[in-house]
Amino acid sequence: MRLSVVGTGYLGATHAACMAELGHDVIGLDTDPAKVAALSQGRVPFWEPGLDAVLQRGLASGRLRFTTNAADASGAEVHFLCVGTPQRPDSPAADLAQVNGAVDALLPILDSASLLVGKSTVPVGTAADIEERVLATGARVAWNPEFLREGHAVEDTLRPDRLVFGVRRASDEAILREVYAQLLDAGTPVLVTDFATAELVKVSANAFLATKISFINAMAEVCEATGGDIVTLSKALGMDPRIGSQFLRAGLGFGGGCLPKDIRAFMARAGELGVDEALMFLRDIDDINIRRRQHTVDLAIASIGGSAEGRTVAVWGAAFKPDSDDVRDSPALHVAQLLRDAGARVVVHDPRAMDNARSLFPGLEYANTPEEAAEGADVLLLLTEWRDYIDFDPAVVQQRMRQATVIDARNALDVDRWRAAGWTYRALGRPTA
Ligand code: UDX
Repeated sequence: MRLSVVGTGYLGATHAACMAELGHDVIGLDTDPAKVAALSQGRVPFWEPGLDAVLQRGLASGRLRFTTNAADASGAEVHFLCVGTPQRPDSPAADLAQVNGAVDALLPILDSASLLVGKSTVPVGTAADIEERVLATGARVAWNPEFLREGHAVEDTLRPDRLVFGVRRASDEAILREVYAQLLDAGTPVLVTDFATAELVKVSANAFLATKISFINAMAEVCEATGGDIVTLSKALGMDPRIGSQFLRAGLGFGGGCLPKDIRAFMARAGELGVDEALMFLRDIDDINIRRRQHTVDLAIASIGGSAEGRTVAVWGAAFKPDSDDVRDSPALHVAQLLRDAGARVVVHDPRAMDNARSLFPGLEYANTPEEAAEGADVLLLLTEWRDYIDFDPAVVQQRMRQATVIDARNALDVDRWRAAGWTYRALGRPTA
């Protein structure tokens, strides 16, 4: 099939390359010429394991191209909307400028043979608004939310847990079934529904995941007040199959380009719809999450004698999670900057996210290796649980530190190993650890 993918960020670049992998003829459209140039040369402009190989295979097959010119996408049967919906600078609501811009760019090439399929995370009601806007062209609209996780984007696109099709007509469902035929043959379940449900599945999934993380972090606060151990508590909860162990890892909490802004946009939309009370709990979810960051700062300052002034703090991790170079709303960098603001010299290392971190937080110092970050530091903070850090020999870093104290804000390090190497080990939600 001939497909276009509008917006070639994390979601769109992955979707375009994976659709070509499925055998479709795909054109990726973006307003950023640098992004289009990089992708056209087979370079993924962000760190996503495995995506470069899929991209290069697509380009070599001749079935995948990228352009800044919307006219090049004319003739595509399906146009996937994959643009970003960040938080507005002036409010918690979603900024739909990119969605509106993409629809405007497509308007001249849409006709009665076109199906516009939204994948971006949007406020409920957006699909119906877009349908209204494209009505005169004869094009139809469908909503097919995307659940991919950064770091697992290719796998999540080619082997999703489920596909959700929000459609008005059986003929539109048939087109989506044709697009995803290979995945359906492989047994991927499909749910066919209306626009509102399709839009809500995505935001409520992210709200649930955020709730699970903040729930366990709230329990960590209680552990801190009582001497309990959140790691054992979480393990015990996760053994109940009704609860499940995933997304119950207590620590510094969630960040990134999705969960924080999605729960805020969801609350804002609920307010517009007059059902704000239904989502009032998400305010607490957000607050618990942000409190973990300040708590980590307090713990770090307490461990270096009550004042950050004149002290050196080593930070391991800048990305919002491991296997990503994304620093959008990164809890790690937020903590690093708060310590800098409190007067500390803060030296950061990350295996992949250094360039992105440097451009957003120029006031922090950056080291080329984990050991270099630890040089002369009074405390070491593990803020993003990259495998490299977990496997690191604590004895090697210990020699570089002024004072061998580590704060494991992700509950990821082996306590016994670090203690045996002579470290004072502290962690969130584990007062006795
Ligand atoms: C999320 C959703 O998982 C995905 O389905 C959706 O499409 C986009 O948003 P992503 O932002 O890539 O994906 O990250 P995710 O793996 O969900 O992690 C989000 C944050 O939660 C990270 O900062 C991570 O460190 C944190 N987290 C995750 C925890 O603190 N504890 C956990 O147990 C799990």
